[in-house]
Amino acid sequence: MTTYAVTGATGRFGQRAIKYLAAKVPASDIVALARNTDKAKKLLPTDITIRQADYNDAEQFTKALQGVDRLLFISSVPGGPVPRAQQHANVLAAAERAGVSFIAYTSFPHADQAEVALAADHKATEKAIAASGIKHSFLRNNWYLENELSRLQAAAAGKDFLYAAGDAKVGWALEREYAKAAANVLAATDTKDVYEFAGPARTYRELAAAIAGDFEIKSLSDADYQAALIAGGMPAKLAGFAAGGMQLIASGILTEDTTDLPDVLGHELTPLPEAIQEVLK
Ligand SMILES: NC(=O)c1ccc[n+]([C@@H]2O[C@H](COP(=O)([O-])OP(=O)(O)OC[C@H]3O[C@@H](n4cnc5c(N)ncnc54)[C@H](OP(=O)(O)O)[C@@H]3O)[C@@H](O)[C@H]2O)c1
Repeated sequence: MTTYAVTGATGRFGQRAIKYLAAKVPASDIVALARNTDKAKKLLPTDITIRQADYNDAEQFTKALQGVDRLLFISSVPGGPVPRAQQHANVLAAAERAGVSFIAYTSFPHADQAEVALAADHKATEKAIAASGIKHSFLRNNWYLENELSRLQAAAAGKDFLYAAGDAKVGWALEREYAKAAANVLAATDTKDVYEFAGPARTYRELAAAIAGDFEIKSLSDADYQAALIAGGMPAKLAGFAAGGMQLIASGILTEDTTDLPDVLGHELTPLPEAIQEVLK
């Protein structure tokens, strides 16, 4: 018998990954790891095991991982009181102590080479997992289409589609597609060390062209983009953050050319116009 565990099980990605995993392996072999077990009981299938595991408590995490063979280690959300790098170190230390034999870790595109701040924790975590000697797969997820929700909503409502990433390309795919791929890798016996999971590389103009409706597509400079967001009612701090995201994408860091995602899913990705409709629902 193989026991599978998933961290961050009450989160968006964790819930989806568990749902897909439960379709592939017996529910009785699945352990959901959550800091809030009451929440987990409400959200997750009743026939899986739920154990308390706080990223900030390596000892508790070690107990929670007892008997676990294969771990889906979903990266923590940055910005909390304990640095994400420390939380990830706690999870890895717990996995080593508990004798976990395989880790699938959700990472960042080309994390080993990426120099941007957003990738730093992923780079360090990948390095530490590799150094641990535990067999692993790095699931380097590109951008979720869901990240573009406000832009898609604006365009669908006839407002301008604004962006500031020029002709840089992004490998958008649906969050559920990344989550299903993660579950497939966890349940597989023959895995690669690195998956660059992404949809087809597309520009923002190509994304906009797939949205149904009548609206204008505007490619702006950084400053004009930020000013337009503020004029539209966004607080200056958030507008600065959004512009920073655009700069990151403009650098080309999300340009990808692999078929890892459809290969692991075993089918084509959702066509873009349909995927957009799904996000807008
Ligand atoms: N590539 C992309 O485009 C993209 C887009 C979005 C997110 N992400 C990344 O994907 C990862 C997962 O995101 P998500 O959307 O699933 O986030 P989410 O929905 O906010 O879920 C976060 C999960 O982490 C749990 N958590 C928070 N602090 C914890 C702690 N101290 N100990 C144990 N668990 C803790 C939360 O538990 P509670 O339910 O108790 O709060 C929840 O289960 C993150 O690293 C995020 O940055 C990537």
